[in-house]
Amino acid sequence: MKVLIHDSAEAAIAAIANRIVEKVIAKPTCVLGLATGGTVEPVYEALVQKHEQQNVSYSRIRTFNLDEYVGLSPDHPMSYHHFMEKHLFGRTDIKSENTSIPFGNAINPNEEARRYEAAIKQCGGIDCQLLGIGENGHIGFNEPTSSLSSTVRIKTLAPETVRANSRYFKDIAEVPRLSITMGIGTILCAREIVLIAIGDNKSKAALEMIEGPLSARCPASALQLHPHAEVYLDEAAASQLTLRDYYEAVHPNGKVES
Ligand code: PGA
Repeated sequence: MKVLIHDSAEAAIAAIANRIVEKVIAKPTCVLGLATGGTVEPVYEALVQKHEQQNVSYSRIRTFNLDEYVGLSPDHPMSYHHFMEKHLFGRTDIKSENTSIPFGNAINPNEEARRYEAAIKQCGGIDCQLLGIGENGHIGFNEPTSSLSSTVRIKTLAPETVRANSRYFKDIAEVPRLSITMGIGTILCAREIVLIAIGDNKSKAALEMIEGPLSARCPASALQLHPHAEVYLDEAAASQLTLRDYYEAVHPNGKVES
């Protein structure tokens, strides 16, 4: 795992966005795994800026999002379909037919989960998966105790995730309790993984992911198994790491070779 510590949130965001753009330029038909959440909003803003100001084109990429709330239709304002349209898809030349997000309103969510896993495989798998991390160490909606080899399936949100995500809803009672999410096994199949964690509130999860034992208690610790995982952190998210001198010696200022 490459641990890349940046001196500000802005620097970490710019670095991970640059990394993604590098991959798109190197392989214009690449398959990107995408995430939602407050942390990736500015990452998408940076990708949009690259498109508008530097003519970076996403017209041939294929995308698969990590997850969606069960019960929300794509046009629901709190759905992840809506989030992606608002922050990235609707603002770039990504072709909508080349994007995939699980359908939360599928009549048979279990069948939808199987279909989604198969669709990822059919595309040849994900080249690069973007991830955020929950305060409880979740990736996607793989909450603590998720199987480390899980595939796309229905997962119940942890109470702390319901609370964290309620900031986007009028009332906590409106937050869906179920999701369709890529499994940890699905995520580990991506050829490369880039994860971003910003802020103090992510420092414990970052510590457990990077230095903690490999454990379903912290789903993100599964990234320790991946041969090509990069973790982008700001100072605050890195504040509890104990091997910091080592990370900074290997990657001064979060620099990573291309
Ligand atoms: P956040 O969500 O970026 O809104 O903190 C991250 C996550 O829950 O994976």
